Amino acid sequence: MNQPYRYIEVHPQNGALGCELFGVNLAEPVRDEVMEEIHRAWLDHQVLFFRDQNITPAQQVDFARHFGELDTYPFIEPLPDQPEVVPIIKEPDNRFNFGGGWHSDTSYMPKPPKATMLRALEVPRRGGDTLFANQYAAYEALSPGMKDMLAGRRAVFTASQVHGSSGYYRKADHPMDMKKPQDAVERRVDHPIVRTHPETGRRALYVSVPHVERFRQMSREESRPVLEYLCGHAVKPEFTFRFHWRPHSIALWDNRCVQHYALNDYAGQRRVMHRITIKGDMPR
Ligand code: OGA
Ligand code: MN
Repeated sequence: MNQPYRYIEVHPQNGALGCELFGVNLAEPVRDEVMEEIHRAWLDHQVLFFRDQNITPAQQVDFARHFGELDTYPFIEPLPDQPEVVPIIKEPDNRFNFGGGWHSDTSYMPKPPKATMLRALEVPRRGGDTLFANQYAAYEALSPGMKDMLAGRRAVFTASQVHGSSGYYRKADHPMDMKKPQDAVERRVDHPIVRTHPETGRRALYVSVPHVERFRQMSREESRPVLEYLCGHAVKPEFTFRFHWRPHSIALWDNRCVQHYALNDYAGQRRVMHRITIKGDMPR
């Protein structure tokens, strides 16, 4: 049985994951006993949402450090005076957005970030929501036969499908000045398709269309039907929650058990976010 919360208020969202936290002011240092509760709520609900946190990039960094060592992102230049914070900007005339497909962040890295924290600075009047999908629930809903078939199975992950020359982030088409370090684009790693969360011990599905190429030791053609099924299953509406941003909203998601999707439905409006990632382990 879970312990109650003494310092924070935790409001689960009306969906398959996520909770909004009340009683926390991130402009001030967060005490250890409060942090313990925030961390517990995060593991229980997979995504934390905060509202009205009018904080500086340095304060966002201070808070993020409570969750672990900060990571870097290979494809976008960070803020000049805050190397851990990456600006995610969509201008009114940009056609493409960042994160516009279901994924877990940089799952093509050998050690993908365990968490991503996004803070909204400027948001469209309407539109620009982010969708989240609970990958524990997706795994648990599979049949026993499918779970057996996936046990111990690994897949090849790569950034090349989206960051390669014909990918979604083709330089000419994309709003932000995306960097293309070739080693990061071309690298292939393999990860288990079902991972065990190192802190909760729960199993989660770990597949996505943009990053997974094929099952290890199988061709793409052989892999595709099952991968397509799993990627579609993983994001069924009953596993999701949709978050509507306001300026100074913060979301912190757990990439080990969550996929997310940035909606691109606000042409003609601007959206600006500050993004921080937190280092993770090798998926097991
Ligand atoms: C990300 C991402 C979603 C959004 O920052 O990793 O996918 O809604 N962003 O901006
Ligand atoms: Mn993302």
